[in-house]
Amino acid sequence: ASNQMWGGRFASGPDAIMEEINASIDFDKKLYAEDIRGSIAHATMLAKQGIITESDRDAIVSGLNTIRGEIESGNFAFSRKLEDIHMNIEARLATLIGPAAGRLHTARSRNDQVALDFRLWVKAELQRTDAALTKLIAAFLDRAEEHADTVMPGFTHLQTAQPVTFGHHCMAYVEMFGRDRARVRHAIEHLDESPIGAAALAGTPYPIDRHMTASALGFREPTRNSIDTVSDRDFALEFLSVAAITAMHLSRLAEEIVIWTTPQFGFVRLSDAFSTGSSIMPQKKNPDAAELVRAKTGRINGSLIALLTVMKGLPLAYSKDMQEDKEQVFDAAESLELALAAMTGMVRDMTVRTDRMKEAAGSGFSTATDLADWLVREAGLPFREAHHVTGRAVAAAEARGCTLSELALDDLKAINPAINDGVYSVLTVEASVASRKSYGGTAPAEVRRQIAYWRERV
Ligand code: ARG
Repeated sequence: ASNQMWGGRFASGPDAIMEEINASIDFDKKLYAEDIRGSIAHATMLAKQGIITESDRDAIVSGLNTIRGEIESGNFAFSRKLEDIHMNIEARLATLIGPAAGRLHTARSRNDQVALDFRLWVKAELQRTDAALTKLIAAFLDRAEEHADTVMPGFTHLQTAQPVTFGHHCMAYVEMFGRDRARVRHAIEHLDESPIGAAALAGTPYPIDRHMTASALGFREPTRNSIDTVSDRDFALEFLSVAAITAMHLSRLAEEIVIWTTPQFGFVRLSDAFSTGSSIMPQKKNPDAAELVRAKTGRINGSLIALLTVMKGLPLAYSKDMQEDKEQVFDAAESLELALAAMTGMVRDMTVRTDRMKEAAGSGFSTATDLADWLVREAGLPFREAHHVTGRAVAAAEARGCTLSELALDDLKAINPAINDGVYSVLTVEASVASRKSYGGTAPAEVRRQIAYWRERV
């Protein structure tokens, strides 16, 4: 039998393979609530404009509400023959209310309908992402406050560079996730236009009111061009781009947690709740959650590239290729939500091993720059020369197997006679971080100022 929705010109139904490649119901049923909400707004507008009667509207609205209940209680039979969520719902509506159901699709196409449903879903997902990012930022602010004075080694090239505070390091992530949150909010602003009423691609001869449906559905305004409206998936791509950048940040953090939890580093200990054991090695505590967060980045990047590739060659307006948008977004959304929640849990629960951090902060001649700065300030050396003198001091300490502050004053004087015992006060890791009071620097007071800035914004 031909399709009950569009089969008028067809003598027979689709091949089984056609049905399988065409049907999207297995994944787009996720859009049922948005579809019903959109249809109620559309039917309400049609009645207000005198395009359908009030009694048809009432039958449509109550039928749609019944269907929502059926889906939510698991009593709805989804059918692949009916392709997608839009036609599954419309067919059920016809069974429930009869011919009035056929009036719902007046002045509408599945092209603007799916654009609407998907936009509503992506908008809500962006709002969930905003909330999840805010929680992660709040977790970091608490840890930063707690550890504004905790000294750890800062790294470049993963080699010890200069002492920093753990609070300062946490605040670096707050900046990153703060930018992600700003990108999420921009994406919400960009997509906040209602597609419904663009119809198939050209608009409609019926006297519809697109401003009415836009405001009923919580959009700022209707989209301006009907062709663009049904061709556009930028909102999905923006979600995926934001998700990919956020996942990249999460992955860098996950990588640091993996490094920090090794016995060799030992900077943090994950809670039992966020680690796993080994089935053979009894001593092991593995950072699986961090590793999986790092790995989810691959799926999210893949989704972004997949949809960019689907879209890149499409002529205007709608092509069925665009049906491939949803699984990418759904999968990326699920991965991102999980990764954000797992990371928030890890950050909240992890034990920070301040003793290990401090010990490591003092190794690797991390205060060498402080010695060079002292020579500039106290002995009037040009920085380049101070750098050279300090390099010789590092070599001497390395030869003796000691730290810079363990070098005898005579040894330092032999390298440069201008050095006096005032130098020792700048060679401790605490003095080093306290001295870096420049705006955005690692001094505890400056880190506390950064925390206060962000506290006001979450
Ligand atoms: N299932 C389709 C999708 O997800 C809905 C739109 C179909 N429109 C069409 N003209 N075939 O994109």
